[in-house]
Amino acid sequence: MSVDITGTDAWQKLTDHHSAIADTHLRTLFAEDADRTRTFTLDAADLHIDYSKHRITRETVELLVELARTADVEGKRDAMFAGEHINTSEDRAVLHTALRLPADASLTVDGQNVVADVHEVLTAMGEFTDRVRSGEWVGATGEKISTVVNIGIGGSDLGPVMVYNALRHYADAGISAKFVSNVDPADLVGALDGLDPASTLFIIASKTFSTLETLTNATAARRWLVDALGEDAVAKHFVAVSTNAERVADFGIDTANMFGFWDWVGGRYSVDSAIGLSVMAVVGKEAFGEFLDGFHRIDEHFRLTPLAENAPVLLGLIGLWYSSFFGAETRAVLPYSNDLSRFAAYLQQLTMESNGKSVKADGSPVTTPTGEIFWGEPGTNGQHAFYQLLHQGTRLVPADFIGFAEPTDDLPTRDGTGSMHDLLMSNFFAQTKVLAFGKTAEEIAAEDTPADVVPHKVMPGNRPSTSILASKLTPSVVGQLIALYEHQVFVEGVIWGVDSYDQWGVELGKTQALELTPVLTDSEAPAAQSDSSTDALVRWYRAQRGR
Ligand code: F6P
Repeated sequence: MSVDITGTDAWQKLTDHHSAIADTHLRTLFAEDADRTRTFTLDAADLHIDYSKHRITRETVELLVELARTADVEGKRDAMFAGEHINTSEDRAVLHTALRLPADASLTVDGQNVVADVHEVLTAMGEFTDRVRSGEWVGATGEKISTVVNIGIGGSDLGPVMVYNALRHYADAGISAKFVSNVDPADLVGALDGLDPASTLFIIASKTFSTLETLTNATAARRWLVDALGEDAVAKHFVAVSTNAERVADFGIDTANMFGFWDWVGGRYSVDSAIGLSVMAVVGKEAFGEFLDGFHRIDEHFRLTPLAENAPVLLGLIGLWYSSFFGAETRAVLPYSNDLSRFAAYLQQLTMESNGKSVKADGSPVTTPTGEIFWGEPGTNGQHAFYQLLHQGTRLVPADFIGFAEPTDDLPTRDGTGSMHDLLMSNFFAQTKVLAFGKTAEEIAAEDTPADVVPHKVMPGNRPSTSILASKLTPSVVGQLIALYEHQVFVEGVIWGVDSYDQWGVELGKTQALELTPVLTDSEAPAAQSDSSTDALVRWYRAQRGR
């Protein structure tokens, strides 16, 4: 049995400390410590991170770091980087960090130099995407590829689509990408609408090459292509990204056009593997190389920086502070960048599939809530939707604000003198300020507000946030942001004691859906399920469909 972290001295000290400071307002914390902002600001690679607007003191950080030491975050971190099988329930190494090691590094895992393998695939991806981008690789009728359609789901979709949106300014070869994930046919139909089969390349991305949604969509896409260009066209219009060559071949894709990866890359940690092929086709291998370098810079920061100055360690610990001690259930991710519109969705899989567990790695029940619920939308849109609850609601919602000094696009403001990007960023800064410091009843009353309206206008403040800034949304910075969150997941997972790298909880729904499909489609099949609710729903659905 693993050590129960909640039974340790370090946990008890944090529990006592929480009782002592839980009601202290951020206004007080700032008033008491003139150096607070300097103390709680750090730079990691190109990321400038201010975590001073958190309900923490220097002592909190010391105690959280002690907790991390007690849980052996450093030892487990080193074990991960060394390729030990820290994914115990699947007996696998967890080596997404090897995907971004430079070519001259070496790392031998299970007798194999994985860096050489990684760079062999990267070289193949680079050669292939060069050919597609230059027009040397043409479709069956000789046309240059102008659209790549990535068909995948979960980690084989969310990463590529998020990064593609984030790096749209780096698309420089006249190629755009579309992403199809949902088994709802509306997704594929919508993506194919207006596309010319002759200039469309499908990338079928699936680690296992057995995922129902992906294989169903890939088969439908193949039909669409064959109807237009004939069976022989498939070889020029379909490539695969997978760890399973046999299934790729069975599907009818030439394994010469398959880009591989390994079982030590989890789906939600795979955008920096061959799963990023669609991104590389659009932005080119050099920009993709910068993207990988960004990850690596944060990996090195995480690996080498003392815990008390280590960005992913601190932010993971602060997330855990709210989750395990304040009882916060969610964390909002609020990018002040429209180009990061899919970042929260990406983080949902990364964090929630990783740490949404009820048992520890040894199978015993967890003793503290696990897994922050991540959600969010880009600012300023969210301000006109859910920020009301963040500001005045009864729930504590720590928030991560992400913004950039330089715009990817800019336009003049209404009077033609200002910058819309400045307007965007002034909203970022104003929101973090108001969340933290609010406005008191006295301040509101002093503005001649009618007494009965005052309580409605009070802004309580004391709502915590992290500000994550960078000069610009570059490929490197996107990699840095992803790695920053990957390692927070690791830190929290180690302390909660869960296996952050399996996802058994998604399996039962998949098998039951497969069992239910014939029941829905065959009017002779008995509609009876094991519960009356599902039974009634199935009957209602069949009646609607005339079965
Ligand atoms: O259903 C969950 C999951 O297994 C994810 O972990 C994974 O990213 C996704 O499905 C897709 O899997 P694959 O890449 O094997 O198609």
